This record gives sequence, C-alpha cells and structure tokens, in this order.
Amino acid sequence: MGIITTIEDLRVLAKKRVPRMFYDYADAGSWTESTYRANNEDFARIKFRQRVAVNLENRTLASTMIGQNVAMPVALAPTGLTGMQHADGEILAAKAAEKFGVPFTLSTMSICSIEDIAAHTSAPFWFQLYVMKDRDFINRLIDRAKAARCSALVLTLDLQVLGQRHKDLRNGLSAPPKLTIPNLINLATKPRWCLGMLGTPRRTFGNIVGHATSVSDMSSLSSWTSQQFDLSLSWKDVEWIKQRWGGKLIIKGIMDAEDARLCVESGADALIVSNHGGRQLDGAESSIGALPRIAEVVGKQIEVHMDGGIRSGQDVIKALALGAKGVYIGRPFLYGLGAMGEQGVSKCLDIIRNELDLTMAFCGLRDVRQVDRNILLPGSF
Ligand code: FNR
Repeated sequence: MGIITTIEDLRVLAKKRVPRMFYDYADAGSWTESTYRANNEDFARIKFRQRVAVNLENRTLASTMIGQNVAMPVALAPTGLTGMQHADGEILAAKAAEKFGVPFTLSTMSICSIEDIAAHTSAPFWFQLYVMKDRDFINRLIDRAKAARCSALVLTLDLQVLGQRHKDLRNGLSAPPKLTIPNLINLATKPRWCLGMLGTPRRTFGNIVGHATSVSDMSSLSSWTSQQFDLSLSWKDVEWIKQRWGGKLIIKGIMDAEDARLCVESGADALIVSNHGGRQLDGAESSIGALPRIAEVVGKQIEVHMDGGIRSGQDVIKALALGAKGVYIGRPFLYGLGAMGEQGVSKCLDIIRNELDLTMAFCGLRDVRQVDRNILLPGSF
C-alpha cells in the first residue's frame, strides 16, 4: 500500500490485515445493506456554495459537544468488538482520540473494559449503554462508568431486536468465534494480526464477563447476550436510567421526529440521529436524510448529533450545516485501527480534520461554529 490519503485507503488496508470474520463484522450492514449504502450516497447529493476572496486567516475547528470542548466536532462512535480489529483496539482508539482532543465512546460490547480505558487514558471518555434485562447489571455498569469518570452516557435505543447481517452468519461470527476450516485458513494469512493478539493480555468482553452474574466465560456470554436485549424497553426505563446516572445523557438511534420530541421530553442533553450505521432496520432512510427534519423539531431545546455514512470532512461539514452540533464516525476509525492500530486511528482523524478545514475555507468560513445552511446550494438538500 502506498501513501494513505483517504478513508477508503484505510479500508482497503484493513481488509488485507484483519481476519475476514472481523473485517466483515465491522464493514457489513443488515439484510440488503440498502440503508448502509444510502447513508453515504445521500451525502453526495448535497452540494456546496463555493465562495472566493474571503479572509481565511486563523481558521478554527474547535467547538463543543454537550458543553465539552472538542478540537473538532467529531467523536468516535461506540462499536462492539473493536478489540478484534486490532489487539487492544479500544485502548488504542481512545488514546488516539485523546491526543486529538475528540471524544471516545466505549461500547457496552467492547473487548477492553471501562477500567482498561480509564487506566490507559486521562481524558474523560463517554460510555455507551444498551438496556439489558438484567437491571442489576445495568446498575453495576453505571457505577463503573461513574467510577471511571466517564463524562457522558450514550444510551442506545435502537437495538431491542437485532438486524440480521448475512456476512456474520456465513462467517460463523459468535462468541466464541467458530474456528471453521475457512476461518482458520484465513487467520493463517493475517500473521501481523495474530502476533498482536498473542502479544497482549487476554481481555474478553471486559464489561460483561465476570460482571454479569451468570457470565463467567465466552460460551455463557453467548447465551446470556442473546437473551438480554429488552423487548419491553420504554421511555420509563430512559427516565430511570437518566436518574440513576445523574450526568450528561445522550440518546442514540433516533430517526423519527416524534421520537425526537420524546427525547426532548425525557430531559436528555442530546440525541443522535442514527440508524446504527445501516446495521438495524434495512430500508430506513439515511441519517443525513432524516437530520434536517429532526433538527427542525428539536430546535435549540437539546443538541442534535448524527452518525452514519461519514467518510470525509466534506460529509462532516454537510451534517453540521444541516443542524448537527457534532457527528460520530464508526467504520472510518475501525478501518484505521485494523490497518495500522493507533497510528491508523490518528491517520483517520487527521484526514477528516484536513478535509473539514479546507472545505470550510472553500465555503468562505473561518470558524466551524459558524457553519449553517448558507454554505449549501439551495435545492440540493
Ligand atoms: C456499531 N454501532 C454500535 N452502536 C452502539 O450504540 N453500540 C455498539 O456496540 C455498536 N456496535 C457497532 C459495531 C460496529 C462494527 C459498527 C460498524 C457499528 C453503531 C455505531 O455506533 C454508529 O452508529 C455507526 O457505526 C455509524 O455509522 P458509520 O460511521 O459506521 O457509517
């Protein structure tokens, strides 16, 4: 691989280096992947107004998300199994985010634990919570996140049931992963990944194994997880979690204006317009398509964030223009991680930062906080 200049370059390299079952896990969308594709393709329809002869000195990308300073309004999204893209993946991604001054969000389904991240970083990170049936387990997770000084709880509401990803089924992705002959042959072609895994301490679903009462190993984890997603989840649970947490709350997985209104009523500090990166309801509209409608309903009552399909700084600025106070990237940083570990995540953030800065300049602005619909061509969004 020659010089890396785009997120796509990182994806290609990650595909070479990460065992197929884990690369596919990161890359896939659900069913026909139509929403997954739309997430990115719909950005391309939105066009900028190019401006010239404007003073472009002293530009800044610094902003805030839920009142916290960020070097640019781009956070790392919570992603499960990140530690399988690269040994110690969550720790490395959190370190890269800390160096960049952007938020890192740890998933409930991570390989490294809340405590692992706290031990290896000093910036406060965010913790993503799935609502599990085992409420004692949720209580313990919330306490652990508080003890680790997490500065926001990201509550994901769009995973009561699981969207099917055909590739994961075909690859036998499960906990523990199935060591079929094709998987073993594929592993043998990824020596760098295997050596990395052998060279780091064993961390296995550190938020769950040994912490949920009935989960002590990988096979009990598998049966526990499949029964844990709560089919009876309601806004009453959101209220309970908000009170139990007591800190900044961000609700993730909102695609509907009515749900956005309920988020505001729930007292959350922000919501994330998200379809889980096209991994849940295939056939839902793209996140960037839903964003303007939701931003309009919410107004200035709480912050609106978004994720899904962002692959460049141009995509970031389009989302900001359509009402997002900040955005999250999922797969782009996973590709970076799989390609080159911490350096790859830094590279991903660096690419996005440069593209964001230059695009802002082409649109005639010097401060990312001034981005609004005026930078977009009317009729293109
Ligand atoms: C996710 N996502 C996710 N969301 C969440 O709240 N908890 C989780 O554990 C996960 N796990 C997860 C794993 C992988 C491999 C991916 C790709 C995504 C969804 C994620 O937070 C985010 O919504 C999307 O990744 C955003 O879309 P892009 O940036 O990947 O296009």
